[in-house]
Amino acid sequence: MSNKTAPASEIKDAKLAPEGKIRIEWAERDMPVLRLIRERFEKEKPLKGLRVSVCAHVTSETANLARTLQAGGADCLIIASNPLSTQDDVAAALVEEYGMRVFAIKGEDIPTYHKHVNIALDHKPQLIIDDGSDLIVTLVKEREGQVKEVIGSTEETTTGITRLQAMQRDGKLPFPAIGVNDAQTKHLFDNRYGTGQSTLDGVIRATNRLLAGRVVVVVGYGWCGKGTAMRAKGMGANVIVTEVNPIRAIEAVMDGFRVMPIDEAASEGDIFITVTGNRHVIDGQHFEKMRDGAIVCNSGHFDLELNLEALGKLAKDKRSVRPFMEEFTLKNGNRVSVLAEGRLVNLSCAEGHPASVMDMSFANQALALEYLVKHKDKLSKGLNTLPEEVDQEIAALKLKSLGIKIDKLTKEMVDYLSSWTVGT
Ligand SMILES: NC(=O)c1ccc[n+]([C@@H]2O[C@H](COP(=O)([O-])OP(=O)(O)OC[C@H]3O[C@@H](n4cnc5c(N)ncnc54)[C@H](O)[C@@H]3O)[C@@H](O)[C@H]2O)c1
Repeated sequence: MSNKTAPASEIKDAKLAPEGKIRIEWAERDMPVLRLIRERFEKEKPLKGLRVSVCAHVTSETANLARTLQAGGADCLIIASNPLSTQDDVAAALVEEYGMRVFAIKGEDIPTYHKHVNIALDHKPQLIIDDGSDLIVTLVKEREGQVKEVIGSTEETTTGITRLQAMQRDGKLPFPAIGVNDAQTKHLFDNRYGTGQSTLDGVIRATNRLLAGRVVVVVGYGWCGKGTAMRAKGMGANVIVTEVNPIRAIEAVMDGFRVMPIDEAASEGDIFITVTGNRHVIDGQHFEKMRDGAIVCNSGHFDLELNLEALGKLAKDKRSVRPFMEEFTLKNGNRVSVLAEGRLVNLSCAEGHPASVMDMSFANQALALEYLVKHKDKLSKGLNTLPEEVDQEIAALKLKSLGIKIDKLTKEMVDYLSSWTVGT
């Protein structure tokens, strides 16, 4: 049923709402843990009357998180955390079918993105869900007076947590922030299996190239890099990993990958995927060494992993070859194609992570908001993590939903594990 009284929003086309609703319902079927939380929130209303601003990728999975917060009594306003990651039909359904305020249009320009960030702050949030920390950084830099109204915030991704750590070091994080990415039921699954599958999905949808037999260079062997390399290998690619951290590099070696500096990998790769959360990890000198036909993309949070300015300077020509693909012809004659303008390839060229992993990530988000409200007088300013029991509970519910049983510690085992007297 349409909500005719929905407050002002900025979306691409309200008529897309019925398609969006079907997609939201499809995702919901694979989000049983979040569904259980929503059913409990409906009864207990832990977020009753609280203003929540959500800066996230506006996908069908995020819509189910928003529904959960709404069921908990929250007054939600949603903006996109990336100019290219919005699913316009989902945004329309959130407004028309669920009566939420949404400011997100796929392909919005940077001034519009910043305008939406400010609209989310005009909502005077008491709770903030952030993905990449743009909302919180803008709040702290530009709206100091509003900070005292904030009970706390949550951060979805590795890059956002890196920024929050830097703010904390500078004494600039004025309320409790829960690093949802730090939960094991988040990064072990979302970053690894979610990014692994959806990044390749993005590359395949954008290029329709066969991966078998191709050389895929994965830059960064963190949780996202591990998943991406694993899935590329599974599809028959010959995977090279580049790293700056010796421990991660040795992991990649023992996982069976070739490891070398990007300077060497540049001339070997057919497809390059960056997942580092770092700046200019593929730079001008690397583009210059690439083979004719190389394809380059990024699945790290921000669009600065590829130095596209340097690539532009090396190019004599540029044209669009397929949706979300730009081909640069370098002065040396080689052609290098960049996907999605260097933005998150999995969300720009495909649909982001499958619902099954976002089920656990967003269960963490919903429980983190509840936790912030319940413990608001006890939590310290700065970065916090959710208690281990919450992580264990989410994993246990996920297993239950999959019909998988596991063993329990016996009393004898518990006694042994807590004793130091028994040895050789
Ligand atoms: N695409 C998505 O949907 C998605 C999902 C989750 C996280 N992310 C983002 O992906 C990025 C990586 O996340 P993560 O959880 O894997 O982080 P992580 O910290 O576990 O791993 C990053 C790795 O990159 C390495 N690295 C840094 N600079 C490098 C360089 N110049 N060359 C090679 N390696 C380098 C680091 O040593 C580290 O091992 C972050 O920006 C994160 O926010 C994206």
